[in-house]
Amino acid sequence: MRMKDKIGIVTAAGSGMGRAGAIRFAAEGASVAVVDLNKEAVDAVVKEITDAGGKAIGLSGDLTSDAFARDIVRQTVKAFGGLDFVWNHVGTPGPASIEGLDWKDYDFAMNLNVRTVLVTTEEALPELRARGGGAILFTASTSGIQGSQFSPVYNIAKFGIVGLVKGLAKRYAREKIRVNAVCPGPVDTPMLRVFVARPDSQMPAGETPETLVQKRGGQVPFGRPARPEEIANAALFLLSDEASYVTGVALPVDGGATA
Ligand SMILES: NC(=O)c1ccc[n+]([C@@H]2O[C@H](COP(=O)([O-])OP(=O)(O)OC[C@H]3O[C@@H](n4cnc5c(N)ncnc54)[C@H](O)[C@@H]3O)[C@@H](O)[C@H]2O)c1
Repeated sequence: MRMKDKIGIVTAAGSGMGRAGAIRFAAEGASVAVVDLNKEAVDAVVKEITDAGGKAIGLSGDLTSDAFARDIVRQTVKAFGGLDFVWNHVGTPGPASIEGLDWKDYDFAMNLNVRTVLVTTEEALPELRARGGGAILFTASTSGIQGSQFSPVYNIAKFGIVGLVKGLAKRYAREKIRVNAVCPGPVDTPMLRVFVARPDSQMPAGETPETLVQKRGGQVPFGRPARPEEIANAALFLLSDEASYVTGVALPVDGGATA
């Protein structure tokens, strides 16, 4: 058991990589708070974990609310008695061009990609400190380490997350709080379907979301998108004690896209 007796939070855990991570961490012995906007999805993930003998609570709400982004920490500590790790996974692709940009879309993308994870992290730090250390993982993207011609706001946000990770890693190293980012390339989740179907993203016209996802995956050296579990494996490593000397890293899990 690689996460025996750890207590943690996974945001955007109702689907995709977050769901895969929550289920995996619980199978490895962690008590997990499953956080997502979609209550039905939260309930289903919690049921899957508890049916398998694991420990989980479900917290459904909108993480663009500062109150909810903080409350998930309080609720987790109340339910399980502490906090050892947080996977700040929630995020959104944002607009595909700055020309004709609707600033409401900009604000929404910056809120969900940056502000909310900062709020949760601020609330989590004293709890991690109280346990004598811990681990925080952010989901950036390959768009946090290289340019993406169709994701200007996402680039700003995810480069920002990588910068934040490096700063926080140095700031909290002496308190044994490790801070890292995972940087996925295309991953076969509902979000990738949204990403490739955005107006202006210049994917071929007349395709279904399914064929667009395969085409987008075909652009990376592995020739396919990642499965959510492949990102969850990297998250497991970075959040577990196996990564005890790893902090400030933005780890690409991208099928060679940034090689
Ligand atoms: N899928 C990809 O190709 C890809 C690649 C790189 C990075 N990412 C990053 O991964 C993260 C999400 O990834 P995914 O592909 O696993 O997503 P997904 O589409 O499978 O799931 C996203 C989940 O987020 C939840 N959510 C959306 N808005 C929310 C809010 N305001 N409050 C709480 N929950 C909310 C949704 O209900 C959904 O369950 C984002 O940070 C994204 O930028 C995705």
